[in-house]
Amino acid sequence: YPFWAQENYESPREATGRIVCANCHLAEKPTEVEVPQAVLPDSVFKALVKIPYDLDTQQVLGDGSRGGLNVGAVMILPDGFKIAPPDRIPEELQEEVGNTYFLPYSEDQQNIVLVGPLPGEQYQEIVFPVLSPDPSQDKAINFGKYSVHVGGNRGRGQLYPTGQSSNNTVVNAKATGTITSVQPLEAGGYEVTIQPDDGEAVVQSIPAGPELIVSQWHAIKTGEALTNNPNVGGFGQVDTEIVLQSPNRIKGLLAFLAAVTISQIMLVLKKKQIEKVQEAEMSF
Ligand code: HEM
Repeated sequence: YPFWAQENYESPREATGRIVCANCHLAEKPTEVEVPQAVLPDSVFKALVKIPYDLDTQQVLGDGSRGGLNVGAVMILPDGFKIAPPDRIPEELQEEVGNTYFLPYSEDQQNIVLVGPLPGEQYQEIVFPVLSPDPSQDKAINFGKYSVHVGGNRGRGQLYPTGQSSNNTVVNAKATGTITSVQPLEAGGYEVTIQPDDGEAVVQSIPAGPELIVSQWHAIKTGEALTNNPNVGGFGQVDTEIVLQSPNRIKGLLAFLAAVTISQIMLVLKKKQIEKVQEAEMSF
């Protein structure tokens, strides 16, 4: 869950650029992001995160039964950017946002935003209402081009914060030998006993969820799969860029273009005038 990132990591993005959700959500699935190419200071804009998956798929739940997937995301905005306060969000954008709850990563990291878990049926696309900072108000902020990093996840993870595996992953054999017994458990799942050629038998419990792909008297090696991999979800991260644009620069550019246009017209008019004079002076 997004809050597990918050609880376990000071920053959700490691020095390598990897977003920490990937440490527990081991499968990879694509995530997409759309932001405006450039934004003006102190303005509200829409950032869109897409977490696509086939809505017909079901995943293994904690108790081994099957159900739909939830989605969640983390967005790492440039310094000074944050989720817009409700009174700044235009009605149209508010409708697109819906009831999504945005959680800042920490008190002093308002530019990092967590979302989810949310039901995937409704939130394959998550709309973030973002407020850009104003360099004239905050001297630490400069105009320029900045990176935005986004991670999006659908489905349950494979590892808990304790390091324990969830039931949403493959179970591998812990010993080489022969499977001497497969006992179904009352709560679901199995107890598999592997008898090595010499030494003591190893008893491995398999939680309800993944399907057993071995049977009694099967020979198995350490690390080989005892079950299928029930996971259908996955995590993906993308980077994009956004320009915090100075309005004065745009005004300057427009003024310059206007000046160029006018001087071009003036030059043509001057040429016409000279042509007229030349015509008048011509003698045949
Ligand atoms: C579940 C997202 C970080 C381990 C979930 C779910 C979402 C999600 C949306 C619910 C899936 C569903 O019910 O279908 C994220 C995001 C993260 C993140 C966006 C990063 C910002 C982590 C971390 C860990 C983790 C760091 C491990 C320390 C899990 C596990 C589950 C889960 C084990 C399944 C829980 C259960 O149903 O028992 N996560 N997660 N997640 N997440 Fe994460």
